[in-house]
Amino acid sequence: MKTTRKNFLRTSAALATSLAIPSFSFANLGSSSNLKVNGSLKNRFDPWIEVLPESIRYNAGVLHNLSGKKPVIAVIKNNGYGLGDINAAKILDDMPEIAGFAAVKTDVCISVKEAGIKKPILHMGMATDADFYDLASNNVQLSIFDSRMRTLLESISKRTKRPVDTHLYIDTGMSRMGIPYHRAMPWIEDIAKSKSINILGSFMGFTEDPEFDKEQLKRLQNLNAKAASKKINMGRLHAASSNAVYHFPEASLDMIRPGISLYGAYPTYPKKEEKIAPLKVGYRLNARVVRVEQLRTGDSVSYGGSYVAKSPVWIAALPIGHADGYLRKATKGAKVLVNGNLYPVIGYVSASHTIIELGNEPKVKVGDLATLVGPDHPEIHPSHLSTITGTSVYDILMHMSARLPKIVL
Ligand SMILES: Cc1ncc(COP(=O)(O)O)c(C=O)c1O
Repeated sequence: MKTTRKNFLRTSAALATSLAIPSFSFANLGSSSNLKVNGSLKNRFDPWIEVLPESIRYNAGVLHNLSGKKPVIAVIKNNGYGLGDINAAKILDDMPEIAGFAAVKTDVCISVKEAGIKKPILHMGMATDADFYDLASNNVQLSIFDSRMRTLLESISKRTKRPVDTHLYIDTGMSRMGIPYHRAMPWIEDIAKSKSINILGSFMGFTEDPEFDKEQLKRLQNLNAKAASKKINMGRLHAASSNAVYHFPEASLDMIRPGISLYGAYPTYPKKEEKIAPLKVGYRLNARVVRVEQLRTGDSVSYGGSYVAKSPVWIAALPIGHADGYLRKATKGAKVLVNGNLYPVIGYVSASHTIIELGNEPKVKVGDLATLVGPDHPEIHPSHLSTITGTSVYDILMHMSARLPKIVL
């Protein structure tokens, strides 16, 4: 028989009936299925992220205190380090410790404003003239760093009928963005002459090489002193990311600008910061068990069969994999928390599935909640997973798929 679309549908419908797939109801599962959320996620197997506002706010307080109570510009770039940029901004917006937010992409800055965030947001990237206009007219503060900007900002100011709020982006040695510090002075003098430009601040990024960081800081401070001697105010200085907040207190300047540690991860490996001021992990990466099965001696697991059962053993499958942003290198010792117990990841983590080893008994069942990353046990903290798998902790957060549903608890 020729396979037309119509008879394909007819035969597959018949097949489904004959397979008699049992329907599954979370209602039968008891407390492990009780998500504190409304709506559709309650009845799904698909993975999701739980964002933990109290922990993120707690971490902001820790960083603020560590810096000697400097105002915090919260970095929410890269989708709020995986947790959602608007989520992060909403969580932090009303804290008196938070001076504002910073991101790199035009659309992020504008959508944060459109979401009703009250504190200022700083755009730390490049934009077209049209995008700079959109940013300024949405009250986004602009980073400026090149010689064409005075003319552009004057024309923007004419259209918006107010001076443009800016921060001078100084390259003190990162060689990534900003005007090189050694040729910044004449440019700053020129910018400072314009009545259309408000210089609210000046900033730089560290290379996070402890010795060179000191030299970079000196370069910014010298420039600021030179400007002051010419009666130019470079505004509030800021440079410190999470690493500097912990390890370079002199760099706290007028404001700090941390990202990763707001979300509960330590910037260095192996997390020296935990002893200085511990943080709370700001999210959970969750999925539900979709299959529980016993392997016979000699049965293998996943692509390449890298795991072979030495004796009969129970395993469970989770519907989350590296395409969702879970660690490809999880088999190097990562564990997953189910019903209060840790189970090791075995075999190759595939795009959409991860397998865990349960041991001699099927201690978990289909539908049980599995937490792959979260605050609930030290072995599933992102910084621990980073250490044991040799994965950057930034990747553990930022590489979570933006498609994962997020629930702000
Ligand atoms: C310019 C700038 N400032 C601050 C940060 C925050 O850094 P961290 O996440 O290490 O705290 C970043 C992040 O890469 C950045 O690019």
